[in-house]
Amino acid sequence: MASDFDVIIIGAGAAGLMCAATAGYRGRRVLVIDHANKPGKKILMSGGGRCNFTNLNSTPANFLSDNPHFCISALRRYTPQHFLELVDRHGVEYVEKAPGQLFCEDSAKDILNLLITECEWAGAEIRMRTSVSSVTESDEGYRLATSSGPLTCRSLVIATGGLSIPTMGATGFGYQIAEQFGLQVLPTRAGLVPFTLQPELKDQLSPLSGVSCPVEASCNNQHFREPMLVTHRGLSGPSMLQISSFWNPGDELAINLLPAQRVMEDLLALRRDRPQSTLAHYLAQHLPKRFAQAFNELQGWSGPLQGHKNSDLEQIARTLEQWTIKPAGTEGYRTAEVTLGGVDTRQLSSKTMATIDRPDLYFIGEVVDVTGHLGGHNFQWAWASGVAAGNAA
Ligand code: FDA
Repeated sequence: MASDFDVIIIGAGAAGLMCAATAGYRGRRVLVIDHANKPGKKILMSGGGRCNFTNLNSTPANFLSDNPHFCISALRRYTPQHFLELVDRHGVEYVEKAPGQLFCEDSAKDILNLLITECEWAGAEIRMRTSVSSVTESDEGYRLATSSGPLTCRSLVIATGGLSIPTMGATGFGYQIAEQFGLQVLPTRAGLVPFTLQPELKDQLSPLSGVSCPVEASCNNQHFREPMLVTHRGLSGPSMLQISSFWNPGDELAINLLPAQRVMEDLLALRRDRPQSTLAHYLAQHLPKRFAQAFNELQGWSGPLQGHKNSDLEQIARTLEQWTIKPAGTEGYRTAEVTLGGVDTRQLSSKTMATIDRPDLYFIGEVVDVTGHLGGHNFQWAWASGVAAGNAA
């Protein structure tokens, strides 16, 4: 029986659309199916609606995986510069918001339109509102039972993403297919996700909701020097999202509230030069006013600096440089940007993303156990893994 399609890709997200265009340009008959009503929903909500579509400084060191070398090959062969050339070809305006982090000048829609246009030009069909009830092997590849009828293909690409933001159509479908075909799926958990706090600290901090300060957050030998944002539920902002990917339940976080200062030296100098000065004054100089005041009250620091012994000041400096908190948990998949873990890469070809025992079954994007840091790295993985599979399928 002839295949309906050379390649069927399940999942019309970043990785699936990139893969579809790449395979289509090679003359393959490509179909992308997705159960959602519209493609690329996560692209549209990404980067606050402006999609941080790549990071010029992306290297394999920006990715977490149980098999850290796996991502190297695909990332080397499809670099941020390659994606930037595509962005330029489509005339999408962009800005570098933080070093290396490229965002659309206007809207994330520009990136989605780019991908849909590429699929059109490459002759790849996108069929939405199509759910898959079963996948079975056939003589010539795979047979899919779908809500729009049976489909067959020679190569099947799973691009169904992770579990984050279920309201956007996220499912564990990709993991089920992996297990069905004998692949191991590593435990998953929410990554790049805000922390929730124990009730007492939450009550103390929640009046500061909306306050952001530059900190260095540390956990399990990882350090991120970026802003922290207090929310009415807990702690968020880039530093917290970044460190959340390295945090396990029960771990403590160490937060340096004044990473740009040498706190002990500052306090000694201040006590010498202005003995009547207080810690509240010192904090107000270096932290947002509301945060400084609340933190001072939280610690119960009072009185002029001249009344503090060196050992007191050392203790205070330690508290400011290593404020240690034990989060209650995270907000979970409901708000997480990514899912850590997933299809074990030891069973995939790092060159093509195909299953080693089954070279016509591919896994790309977030469903795979490769997770980037915040800052455009996750899309870069979606593009690179999508292109790797699209060039092979
Ligand atoms: P993605 O999730 O994009 O697509 C999967 C597709 O599969 C979806 O269309 C879904 O409907 C479909 N699907 C799922 N189950 C299915 C099933 N059973 N049947 C059929 N279809 C199914 N990254 C970054 O680099 N820069 C950024 O600015 C951001 N910002 C950001 C903000 C927010 C709020 C989130 C949640 C995430 C980000 N990310 C990000 C992460 C980024 O969005 C993510 O890494 C990529 O979208 C992953 O691309 P995939 O194509 O693998 O999955």
